[in-house]
Formats: sequence, structure tokens, C-alpha cells
Amino acid sequence: MKYDIKDTKKAQEGKMRVEWAESKMLVLRLIKERFAKEKPLRNIKIACCLHVTTETANLAITLKAGGAQVSLCASNPLSTQDDVASHLVVHHNIPVFAIKGENNTIYYQHIKTLLDQKPQITMDDGADLVSMVHSKRKELIKNIIGGTEETTTGVIRLRSMEKNKVLAYPIFAVNDADTKHLFDNRYGTGQSTMDGIIRATNVLIAGKNVVVCGYGWCGRGAAMRAKGLGANVIVTEVNPLRALEALMDGYWVMPMAEAAKLGDIFITLTGDISVLRKEHFKVMKDGVIVCNSGHFNVEIDVGDLKKMSKKNRKARSFVQEYTLQNGRKINLIAEGRLVNLAAAEGHPASVMDMSFANQALCAEFLIKNRKKLESKVYPVPEQIDVKIARLKLKSTGIKIDVLTAKQKKYLNSWQIGT
Ligand code: ADE
Repeated sequence: MKYDIKDTKKAQEGKMRVEWAESKMLVLRLIKERFAKEKPLRNIKIACCLHVTTETANLAITLKAGGAQVSLCASNPLSTQDDVASHLVVHHNIPVFAIKGENNTIYYQHIKTLLDQKPQITMDDGADLVSMVHSKRKELIKNIIGGTEETTTGVIRLRSMEKNKVLAYPIFAVNDADTKHLFDNRYGTGQSTMDGIIRATNVLIAGKNVVVCGYGWCGRGAAMRAKGLGANVIVTEVNPLRALEALMDGYWVMPMAEAAKLGDIFITLTGDISVLRKEHFKVMKDGVIVCNSGHFNVEIDVGDLKKMSKKNRKARSFVQEYTLQNGRKINLIAEGRLVNLAAAEGHPASVMDMSFANQALCAEFLIKNRKKLESKVYPVPEQIDVKIARLKLKSTGIKIDVLTAKQKKYLNSWQIGT
């Protein structure tokens, strides 16, 4: 079996941590048990380009239990947990191509190697697999049944491909399922982003001005958790509705040109490019912390920062301190890559449980419905979303009410008013 990982010696450490995560992923465990009996993915080649974490390991093991031939590469050069890669290779015979800290060339080489296995399903986190298939490996398309996409950023890329009529196979937008973005993007990103900042810097959040750039589901989560830790939260937005929502959620709202002068900690989660740039770095206070929790490392103009600096040095693990010409220092975490996965462990397992349950069930749905699907971006079928919510509640031991016959009838009628 071919693989490319840091080493195979950390397999035991990885096993322990993957099992710990599994104990918090009860919906995925149920799916794995059913998959093991029914083998709905029998002999299907699935290429996964996902963050190589303990949670992803449990997804890969679930897909394999369902009969799939799974291979895995990283969806970010800094997010790989090397012990997890080691465990998957040594104990599960799952080919992994991922090393924490790999450079861009190796990152894309790993994606290419994964595609050499001629996958029938692509499972993406950011759409790098799909993008490479459509640009450089078009000959693979005839073999591909479909794909799934985990992130907001990836779904935006895919919708653009669909609009431009280049998308050549069906893809399920896992990100858009309610059981995904309402929990993973909000509570997962909220917690893991603060976790990454704290692990990298050990700064006190209480009393700090935290600037949250972007008020999508991830931004909402980050703002909520920063506030919970005692920060004064400033939100920057370009969307008037979201800006209004942030205001009424109790945050300061202002343009970045103003926020840049006030912030102590900056977090970008917009999905767009050059959110923090030269004009902002120029007016920042001495000693600020700057990081990104959006999918790609394009939100902070690190090139600008380098050009404006007379020197830079490593201040701590994951923290690079830039000294500007004006003498002020700016601390950048994890090179502007995902702070939660580079400096911490990503979202906790119990929230990834629902995201990856969506991934596994969409793979099954793709195979069952392959003849009916067109080359479009599809929403996750509602029955899958609702089923995952029910199973998650059940596994948490929470019961809910059911409508009475009278209530059901009322909801289906229009005659009764006051
Ligand atoms: N994305 C965010 N957190 C993650 C995790 N723990 N595993 C995989 N992908 C993630």
C-alpha cells in the first residue's frame, strides 16, 4: 500500500485519540454499525480531501466499514494530526497522504496522488479535489458518480462552477444541511477558534477588544464565544442584514478602518480575500494578535505584513511577531491559516459527529440514486438532515414532544383564526 505520512511510530497515540473521539460521535457510530452489516459502499473508491483529525479518522473508518476503498489527503497543509495519519495507515490499512507542515507543492502532489486511485466519489473540504479534477484530470470524470462538500467556501466555489456550466458531476452541499452549519460552523468554529488563539498565545480574553471580521455562521460563533470569555466584541461586515443582526446581538459594528485602531485580537472568517491589509496594519495598536479562521489563507495579506516589517521572528510556537517600520509589533498566528486546526485540534468530536454523519449518508445516497442525479450542486435531502437531528438528540438522552392529532390538523387548516 502506498502512503505518505510523517512516520508510522505514532500509531498507538493516534489510536487512543481516535477512540476517544469515537466515544463522542454516537450518530456516526450507529451509521458505522449499519454500514458494517449492509455494505452500501461496497467496492466504491472514495477519495477524501479533509482535515486529517481524530474525527475525520472515524469518518474514514465508517466509510471503510461500509465496504468503500477509502484514501485520504489533507485539505490544509497545517491541519494534519500526524499520529492520526499513522493510526489509519498502521491499524486500518487506509492510505493517507498528509504531513503536518507540508509545503504547497507537496500539498498538491498529495491531492494528485489521491486522484491517481481513480475515485468514484470525491469528498472535499474546500473543493480542491473537485477543482483539480475539473482543471487537470478531466479524464477521471467519466468514472465519478458524484461528490460531497463540507464547507461554505467549497460550496461557493461549486455554485460558481455550476453557474458557469463547468460542473461535470453531482455534488451534495453537506455544509448547507441544518445539522451541519447551525452546529459545526457556529458552535464548532466558535469554540475551536478561541481554543486555537488561547493555546497559541495564552492571552487573557476578558477585557480585550476582539474584532470578528464576517458575521456568517462561523463569525456568529466566534463573536458569541469571545463575548462569553469577557471580550468587547466588534463585528465588521459588508452585508447590511448581517451587520444589523450583529448590532442587535449586542456587538459594536463599524468599518475595518475604524476597528483596526481599536482591536487587540483580530479574527477573519469571511471567506474572502485581503480582509486585513496594509492600510489596517498601519493603524493597529502595538502587540495586537491577528489570526484567520476562514477556510483559505487569503484573508490576511501576509505579503503586505512582510513588506511593511523591518524584521520578524518566532515569538512562540505558531506565533510570528512582525515589527513594522513604526516600531509596532503585530503577532500573526499560524501563518494566517486556519487557527483552530493549526494551533488547536479543530472542532470537538461531538459536533463533527453530525457533519460527518451527513457525509457518510450522502455518500450512500449518491450511490443509491446515481442514475437520477444531474451535474448540479444538491442540498442534503431533508430526510437525512432530520434523521441526524433525531439520532443526535436520542444519543444525548433528550426527548421532545410530538404533535397531538388536534395540533396536526390545526397546522394543516386555514379556517381557524382567533
Ligand atoms: N473542520 C473543523 N474541525 C474539524 C475537525 N475536528 N475534523 C475535521 N474537520 C474539521
